[in-house]
Amino acid sequence: MPKDTLTITDNRTGKTYEVPVENGCIRTNALRQIKVGDDDFGLMGYDPAFLNTANCKSAITFIDGDKGILEYRGYPIEQLAEKSSYLEVAYLLLNGELPTPKELEQFVHLVTHHTFVHENVKSFMDGFRYDAHPMSMLGSTVAALSSFYPDAKNTKDELSRRIQITRLIAKMPTLAAFSYRHTMGLPYIYPDNDLSYVANFLAMVKRIGTTTYKVHPVLERALDVLFILHADHEQNCSTTSVRTVGSSEVDPYSAVTAGIGALYGPLHGGANEAVLRMLREIGHVSKVPDFIKSVKSGEGEKKLMGFGHRVYKSYDPRAKVIKRVADEVFEVTGKNPLLELAVELERIALQDEYFVKRKLYPNVDFYSGLIYEAMGFQAEMFPVLFAIPRTVGWCAQWEEMVLDSEQKIARPRQIYTGQKRRDYVAMDKRAAK
Ligand code: CMC
Repeated sequence: MPKDTLTITDNRTGKTYEVPVENGCIRTNALRQIKVGDDDFGLMGYDPAFLNTANCKSAITFIDGDKGILEYRGYPIEQLAEKSSYLEVAYLLLNGELPTPKELEQFVHLVTHHTFVHENVKSFMDGFRYDAHPMSMLGSTVAALSSFYPDAKNTKDELSRRIQITRLIAKMPTLAAFSYRHTMGLPYIYPDNDLSYVANFLAMVKRIGTTTYKVHPVLERALDVLFILHADHEQNCSTTSVRTVGSSEVDPYSAVTAGIGALYGPLHGGANEAVLRMLREIGHVSKVPDFIKSVKSGEGEKKLMGFGHRVYKSYDPRAKVIKRVADEVFEVTGKNPLLELAVELERIALQDEYFVKRKLYPNVDFYSGLIYEAMGFQAEMFPVLFAIPRTVGWCAQWEEMVLDSEQKIARPRQIYTGQKRRDYVAMDKRAAK
């Protein structure tokens, strides 16, 4: 009869241990009993960048990277992108089930009526330099929200948690739009409670000198779908940051700020901005082969931005949906001239041995920037457009972590590689280098 255990023989001592296997994992803490002597700390796992370490149990998002599957609470991303709205998906991620019409109505009402920010936030924003990056402004103002809502400290209180989550989802588009208006030197526009989540955001971004600005329904739906695609992605770098910081029992604004910081990086949510810069740098379809060559040679540490993923080793299912959305948007806005270049880059990369061998496919960020640009956003806004919808994923994951009785403050181990203990050297005895 097969057993759900792993038998380990320590060749240093000849001793054998049996450790339980649960959900395809062993608890690395079970290795601590494996020692070479009484004063040995015990065996640890060494896994820089968590390549093979599960940090939590989660019931929110499922990914099968080899098959290119992404599901929120069991629902395939393709179906959600086709049939639901972003706020419906947000409800699903937070509560585990799709809302009934009444539940959705209540949730939309709640989010819609928390979109305003304290007036002081505007003066806070005004303190940033004229050329401040909008993602940097977003992170700082979300951190500042913690000072506006001291009740957010009550992370053990369900009602308080839900109020902060609603505030975060509702206020993120307002803060994002304010950061855009600041970089453009335009006056801030207040939220309009009569508009949908996405239309309200677009109006706060675009409205100039009129109260009758109308969002094109195709662009409104396109951004809503992009928001659905970006809503959660299990234990990625920013979500892990939110969970890690949140594990200290700090308020969710501070935890989400950590997520924004992580998302800002070019290997994560900053990739869509980097893709646009890369396409501009290439400049022309005729230069694509040379660019691919330079990526392969590792020259100048260039990467094909928008390609590759830690988890997906086949086509990112979100990228497939995005390609369809891109066609719909370009029907309205006209084609982004960089599209031809992107398509050629993808065509060549997908048949090049370097990329094939490493299973490097376009990820969600390869085409999203082209859509955002066609909608009139400058590249600096792209990571912000990622942060708005990811907020719900961060919040759902944060709350799951708070409620998980197995979780404690996150505190990894290290392998110390520094100096052995030595005595202090007085200033006049130190040799010049
Ligand atoms: N261009 C060229 N080579 C690449 C790329 C790329 N975009 N991505 C990975 N490789 C190579 C890498 O050099 C390595 O080669 P070798 O085995 O010869 O050393 C191999 O492929 C495996 O890559 P890795 O760096 O071990 O993979 P990782 O899981 O650590 O990194 C990644 C994943 C997404 C950070 C990486 O693929 C990358 O930097 N991509 C470009 C940035 C990007 O598009 N990021 C957005 C990710 S999706 C949206 C999100 O979640 O934020």
